[in-house]
Amino acid sequence: MSRRITLDEFINNEGESRQDATGEFSGLLRHIGIAAKIINRIVNKAGLMDILGEDGGHNFSGDTVQKLDTYTNDLMIEYLRNSHLCAGVASEELEHFISFAPNYTKSNKYIVVMDPLDGSSNIDVNISVGTIFGIYKRKSDLGTDAVIDDFLQNGTELLASGYVLYGTSTMFVFTTGNGVNGFTYDRGIGEFCLSHANMMMPLGGSYYSVNQGYYRQFNKGVREFLDGCADKNRMLRYIGSMVADVHRTLCLGGIFMYPQTQKNPEGKLRILYECNPLSFLVEQAGGISISESKQRILGIPVTSLHQRTSIIVGSKDLVNEALNFL
Ligand code: AHG
Ligand code: MN
Ligand code: MN
Repeated sequence: MSRRITLDEFINNEGESRQDATGEFSGLLRHIGIAAKIINRIVNKAGLMDILGEDGGHNFSGDTVQKLDTYTNDLMIEYLRNSHLCAGVASEELEHFISFAPNYTKSNKYIVVMDPLDGSSNIDVNISVGTIFGIYKRKSDLGTDAVIDDFLQNGTELLASGYVLYGTSTMFVFTTGNGVNGFTYDRGIGEFCLSHANMMMPLGGSYYSVNQGYYRQFNKGVREFLDGCADKNRMLRYIGSMVADVHRTLCLGGIFMYPQTQKNPEGKLRILYECNPLSFLVEQAGGISISESKQRILGIPVTSLHQRTSIIVGSKDLVNEALNFL
């Protein structure tokens, strides 16, 4: 009987096919996979565990913090720390990065950037949320503390990125720069199983995805592109969880954008742990990801951990069409 390959098997096979592989990179990915299973369990039972709602505080950016933001952030950090394969982590929920104490048996070559829970304002009403991560090789010396320059790397330096989508089913989608593969969680065996091999984004698509409520705050070119979408009877879909909106765009084609607004003149989304990891995936699947100033997202210099950017991402045909209006 044929069976589906599990995430662990896939990661192992990928690691073994790399000549210089020490197994550490594969090990780190596997730890993220385990953390994803735990987060999945909690997100699924959130309504039963008194873990819904706001935790009463705001993060340093002024965003309302949900209890699950804090929980997933702490859990991811715990798993990354215990992997001993990672020198440090930068997170949406932390003003500063964390450096993990060096462990002398492992070489702690990598650092991780993450949005532990994306779309968290949707959690209380049972709408899809996600976890986004990116992995870089550190710049500083092995065995020392991580430094800020380890994190301020362009998206072009990403070794791997991915997301976990806690949706109608839970999926782990990732790339190591060799195509994009998606794994669906099988609760019966407690494993992510390969369900979407070598994902490629369609060249076009009939969905456009944007917070249309900010229409009057958008620049003229963006408004004109959106008018064109309506003229063409394209279908508007906006979940308000970037992971879910990008996942739909990856699977069905179309375009997702979060442009500059008067409230967020730089754009709202964060380059380091939201836009870059997802842009790497999209490019690997044959799509395009740019800012409103027409820069490739992955090429934008990252100068601070919580830097924001506008983003226009999706199928080649639609992003190129949008480009003509910018
Ligand atoms: P987070 O929950 O990690 O703060 O991210 C929310 C983000 C993103 O997922 C989504 O695309 C966007 O914020 C929605 O913003 P608006 O409510 O302004 O449309
Ligand atoms: Mn987010
Ligand atoms: Mn978040």
